[in-house]
Amino acid sequence: MHQDKPSLDRRDFLGTLTKASLLGAIGLSPVAVAAEAALPEKKTAPGTHSFLCPPYLQRPTDKSMCIMWMTGKPCYSWVELGETKEALTRKIHNTTNGLVNANTRLHRIRVENLRPATTYYYKVLSREIAEFRPYKLTYGETIASEIFSFTTPAAKPKEVSWLVLNDTHDRPESIPHLVGLNKDPYDFVFMNGDIFDYQEDEKQIIDHLLTPATTAFASEKPFIFTRGNHETRGKFSRELADYVDGPYYFTMNWGPVHMTVLDTGEDKEDAHPVYAGIVDFDHYREMQAQWLKEVVKTPEFRKAKFRVVMMHIPHYYSGDWHGPMECRKHFGPVFEEHKIDLFLAGHTHTFGIHLPVPGQHSYPIVIGGGPRDGNRTLIKVKADEKELHLVMLKDDGTEVGKVDLKSKR
Ligand SMILES: [Fe+2]
Repeated sequence: MHQDKPSLDRRDFLGTLTKASLLGAIGLSPVAVAAEAALPEKKTAPGTHSFLCPPYLQRPTDKSMCIMWMTGKPCYSWVELGETKEALTRKIHNTTNGLVNANTRLHRIRVENLRPATTYYYKVLSREIAEFRPYKLTYGETIASEIFSFTTPAAKPKEVSWLVLNDTHDRPESIPHLVGLNKDPYDFVFMNGDIFDYQEDEKQIIDHLLTPATTAFASEKPFIFTRGNHETRGKFSRELADYVDGPYYFTMNWGPVHMTVLDTGEDKEDAHPVYAGIVDFDHYREMQAQWLKEVVKTPEFRKAKFRVVMMHIPHYYSGDWHGPMECRKHFGPVFEEHKIDLFLAGHTHTFGIHLPVPGQHSYPIVIGGGPRDGNRTLIKVKADEKELHLVMLKDDGTEVGKVDLKSKR
């Protein structure tokens, strides 16, 4: 699997521009695409049509990959992809109800019909829509990213490995620092909440998540995101979900591991004055509990070599606040009855590995730390069909805990 990290210097990427003004050409022919690609590159000035972040990968399957990026102006955007750098022969855009997705600054393209366990090279292109009249669309210039690569998962992978970040709390430098502690191959990065203090605006998402993530890995390895309690706060919290692919609670099967991800909501009761009457997390957690009761009946869950749950607020070791206690009440009995093997959380800012406690939790509870220097952690998980190994590293690279499990089924 391709492990090279993209260049740390993104200034060239942000300024890269291919010149084109193919007015009125709503559909690009392969010839036009090739002609554009051959045009010399030049730098953009600030404030001009440009990328606001490099492309970032989301939610892979063995046959597809989601590629997202942002531009400063509304565009028609597409991906060019191939199995060698020299032949990006596939052009991909997505459509909705017969319309090609366009005239947006936030671009999300799912590339389908890929082959499992295959390395692909890609770049993203965005053509400014300078004017959009009902019967006359005027294009501006087209910008292109540098070429990146990713590798699709195998169809039935024998193993999986991933990294977990949590509680960076608006400290963007923590993301490349912590990911940089890892020297081993991995499939994806899981973000387990409180990457932000609260949601203020789009620039914060770019500066504190997308830019540091793509600097470290995310143009070539996917990140998968769920929300912490801090991400429920602030005037832009209702827009945050647009910038990542998929819901905040979900399941994912990857080789020997079945992952259940839950969205634990806020830590205080819904009626607390700070929420001003516009949150409804009690109902949301109850709804997820009903969903969880169906998940544990599925063959994917029951047959998995390892059943792993990840969510931001741990239902133990997190005080007796309303949110943790609701999680304990609604989720804890399901985890116990259906015998999950491992649980990962964050939230408390006190890292630790809590061994099983009879009558409470029969599985290890791993809590990542953060956000201050000396308290930040990177969690590494690797599993094959027989064994799962977890290591927790502190931000100076020292190992501060580990879990070794053997599959029970
Ligand atoms: Fe938290």
